[in-house]
Amino acid sequence: MSLFDTLMEPWVLMWLSLMHVPATIRALVAAKDYGTLFSPAGFREALFGTFWATIGPNIKAGNEERIVALLEGRVKGGRIQDQVVSTPIYGTVLEVGAGSGMWADVLARFTGRVDDTGGLHNRKNVGSGITKIYGVEPNPISAKALQKRVNEVGLQDIYHVVPVGIEFVDDPSAWDGKIEPGSVDCIFGILCLCSIPEQEKNIHLLYKLLKPGGHWFVYEHVKVSHGSPLLRFYQRFCNIGWSYFMGSCQLCRDTEKSLRTVGVWQKIDLAQPSDQPAHGVIPHIVGTLKK
Ligand SMILES: C[S@@+](CC[C@H](N)C(=O)[O-])C[C@H]1O[C@@H](n2cnc3c(N)ncnc32)[C@H](O)[C@@H]1O
Repeated sequence: MSLFDTLMEPWVLMWLSLMHVPATIRALVAAKDYGTLFSPAGFREALFGTFWATIGPNIKAGNEERIVALLEGRVKGGRIQDQVVSTPIYGTVLEVGAGSGMWADVLARFTGRVDDTGGLHNRKNVGSGITKIYGVEPNPISAKALQKRVNEVGLQDIYHVVPVGIEFVDDPSAWDGKIEPGSVDCIFGILCLCSIPEQEKNIHLLYKLLKPGGHWFVYEHVKVSHGSPLLRFYQRFCNIGWSYFMGSCQLCRDTEKSLRTVGVWQKIDLAQPSDQPAHGVIPHIVGTLKK
């Protein structure tokens, strides 16, 4: 990607979001949801839901190889490896910001029920598989689509949609359940820690839910922390419009630092994906942390 392309990337995404305003209005009018239509925060979330339904599949297609490798334990130092180098996803999984279930089919492959992918997870040496999933998603439109997707991929008996923000998962008055501290084997989240409120506090809450020895699988966009101060300034400038057009997403969060410093980790492997430009305005991190 050229420097010009990376500088334009946030604006292209905001423009695409803007293009979804008419469809969002039409959908809210058709649903007679005038409360959301006339609430700035509600409309922002609805717009993001409509936008992500279009853009999400492209983002998934561009990252599927990387994410499958991550879940198979084949990512190290931001690079996809040929061999398994760390623990694949297993046990009770909490999917943060599950959206409309874009990754549900990929998770299904790790339950040992699907055998047509040819991926490494079907080999004997790759973990014991996923047994239960909590999909945490507060956007009501996305949570509904998530449940539909879960049914489509046949995970309805093990995938529980949790229709609240991550900040409420341990609060039984907020939803029909409670996730106990130290009860989760793995946390999985794709491009979601940019969107949760009070990031440090809620990353800490997630850390507490993870069992000792549990794994957190991460793919996130983060603040520009290396390179020119001009690039950092430019990212902050882009974030002004970004916050409106991208739901609750923030461009300039130091998610890597929040994850590294949340508590004691046995092992951390977080790095910029090796195939992404060093000068990106939307840099990413990929990897795992072991508690
Ligand atoms: C960029 S989308 C990614 C969705 C999904 N992970 C994917 O890759 O398609 C970010 C998601 O985070 C969700 N989100 C926002 N606030 C949240 C919160 N407090 N707790 C959990 N998820 C939240 C949004 O509703 C949205 O679905």
